[in-house]
Amino acid sequence: MIGWNGLLAEYAQWFDLEGIDDVVTLQEGNTPLIHADRLSERLEADVWLKCEGLNPSGSFKDRGMTMAITKAKANGAEKVICGSTGNTSAAAAAYAAKAGLDCVVLVPQGKVALGKLAQSMVYGAKVLQITGNFDQALNLARELTQHLPMTIVNSINPDRIEGQKTGAFEIVDVLGKAPDILSIPVGNAGNITAYWRGFTQYHFAKRALTLPKMWGFQAAGAAPIVLGYPVENPETIATAIRIGNPASWVPALEVIHESLGDIRAVTDDEIIDAYQYLARHESVFCEPASAASVAGLLRYGVPHGSTVVCVLTGNGLKDPETAVSTSESPTLVEATIQALLANLEA
Ligand code: F0G
Repeated sequence: MIGWNGLLAEYAQWFDLEGIDDVVTLQEGNTPLIHADRLSERLEADVWLKCEGLNPSGSFKDRGMTMAITKAKANGAEKVICGSTGNTSAAAAAYAAKAGLDCVVLVPQGKVALGKLAQSMVYGAKVLQITGNFDQALNLARELTQHLPMTIVNSINPDRIEGQKTGAFEIVDVLGKAPDILSIPVGNAGNITAYWRGFTQYHFAKRALTLPKMWGFQAAGAAPIVLGYPVENPETIATAIRIGNPASWVPALEVIHESLGDIRAVTDDEIIDAYQYLARHESVFCEPASAASVAGLLRYGVPHGSTVVCVLTGNGLKDPETAVSTSESPTLVEATIQALLANLEA
């Protein structure tokens, strides 16, 4: 076959795909790594943006989901389930539809960005909004698998992390080396774990001489790893990472330790500033959670001249409500030349 056929085909040698002859793919991956000209100037570094919002369902979750759904199908699953802040549910619903599987998603009521909710609904998942937060949704999804024959496709499913490690492969393939720093938003802490696996596998296979420092950023109101204890009622405008008790907490600490990295907090105001800066100065419209990776650089700085990649995890169109509420409202103008001139010349 010609062209890009998705991650599992492209990076087959890096996976255990024994016995798999039916790959469920939407041609995910191969996302743009865009040089951030203005940000590089501002930070006096070489900054790149890994634009994961360009994946088929608009987030990095598609990397994990092609693997998780492919394996679930091969293992004879008929139904998959996840708890989600919105992106996992959108990806699960999309890939389940492609595979012909049923999909159930548990999401926190009122705390999922509109576009993500719409995606799960349109792809045909059974959407259950629970009167609780993400941490409760994930626990309940896990528990449900004890009662009903369903495969869980959250990142506690190891197939998810396997698929997501390819983000690191692509960065090294494009840059020709590992960056000095990888900056990434942290919620449930699966993705930082996955990227580290990708970088280390490439390193040991001699595809990259060095390893990056892994810098994770949590929202200040949902920063359990920074604080060192679970947050019972996490709050942040970045609903994707509104998580108080990350499932991959321990693996994330290992990543930080091994890579000489860190996980730090950024405020909602800093997240929104970075979100708007990215759109206005780099023309990349990501979702608020994704902008935490850039907010962190702006707050804490980076070593002079270093090569930094920020993982922009999801597409800004997923969260139109935040886009509109944090931007200047459109002006209503009478449909005449005079009124328009008066408005524009003012
Ligand atoms: N960015 C976005 C846009 C996300 O949707 C998530 C997680 C993260 C960052 C954090 O990644 O959890 O691997 O540390 N979203 C999950 C979901 C929780 O349900 O969609 P993580």
